[in-house]
Amino acid sequence: MNPSVNSSYQGRVALITGANVGIGRVTALRLAEVGFTVFLAGRSAQRTQAVIDEIHAAVKSPDRAFYLPLQLDDLNSVRACAAQFLALERPLHLLINNAGMAGDKGQTRQGFEKAFGVNHLGHFLLTQLLLDTLKASAPARVVTVASRAHLMAYQGVDWQALQQTTRSLTGTVEYGVSKLANILFSAHLAKVLAGSGVSTYALHPGVVDTEVWREVPRFLRPLLRLRGLLTPEEGAQTTLYCALQAPANESGLYYDKCRVKTPSRIAQDAELAEQLWNQSLQWVKADQ
Ligand SMILES: NC(=O)c1ccc[n+]([C@@H]2O[C@H](COP(=O)([O-])OP(=O)(O)OC[C@H]3O[C@@H](n4cnc5c(N)ncnc54)[C@H](OP(=O)(O)O)[C@@H]3O)[C@@H](O)[C@H]2O)c1
Repeated sequence: MNPSVNSSYQGRVALITGANVGIGRVTALRLAEVGFTVFLAGRSAQRTQAVIDEIHAAVKSPDRAFYLPLQLDDLNSVRACAAQFLALERPLHLLINNAGMAGDKGQTRQGFEKAFGVNHLGHFLLTQLLLDTLKASAPARVVTVASRAHLMAYQGVDWQALQQTTRSLTGTVEYGVSKLANILFSAHLAKVLAGSGVSTYALHPGVVDTEVWREVPRFLRPLLRLRGLLTPEEGAQTTLYCALQAPANESGLYYDKCRVKTPSRIAQDAELAEQLWNQSLQWVKADQ
């Protein structure tokens, strides 16, 4: 995918999580280059500023990229991030749930398993809080960066484990469950948003040479390299395809290499998707 400058995106607004490095950084840059104003939500103003400066230099304008503080492992921070954006009274045409971690172990501030809390529940709440604005801004899109790693979660969801500390040695089992949750979430979100003009996409970006592997034990990293790592530029292509080109009537599907791909059997389980949706709603409401 090679989005060319397209004035039809002028005036459109995107919010992307985890855009200070990796796939998110490239995604934010390319969206700004085609005309979007981009809000970069992340944990470090300082580290995000470098990307904001890069964007402003690329688009030759000083007001097309902004930072929003966001810690996805704290639901209060997610609420504050959404509130800060909503207070600006801007439209929102594109939400990209990109941030993610793999291999970090523990629990979030509210006691959820770390990968599930950061990769799924934080983004679930952020999306809920921005839904009315997305609908009011339609046509709009929600793109969630999932992973082929969802295939590891073939045994389904252990609901109790989601409220405990990470149990596996490498954290990769829990990462797989969190990425399964991303796909189930995106599929159910499409049903909730049917007829609203807001379409949703989940995707695998490829195996990409980014910092996401920093917590993965060193002895496992050569295995990743053997699989042929993509550059972050290459890794952003499927996100950009879903954000800019995928047909709106393909809402709720999963993509790989800029094409629709059938995810695992369990990731297609509509009942499980609804159960996850309802449980996630209860969890974020209980915390208020
Ligand atoms: N790289 C791959 O091979 C690959 C494969 C499949 C899927 N993915 C997915 O692609 C997405 C982007 O990852 P990447 O490869 O670009 O990795 P990355 O370079 O490590 O970027 C991850 C981003 O997520 C942010 N983040 C992590 N934990 C956070 C938290 N608690 N609160 C807020 N932000 C947080 C990071 O912020 P900090 O800089 O502050 O840590 C960073 O901006 C992730 O969802 C990942 O699961 C990646």
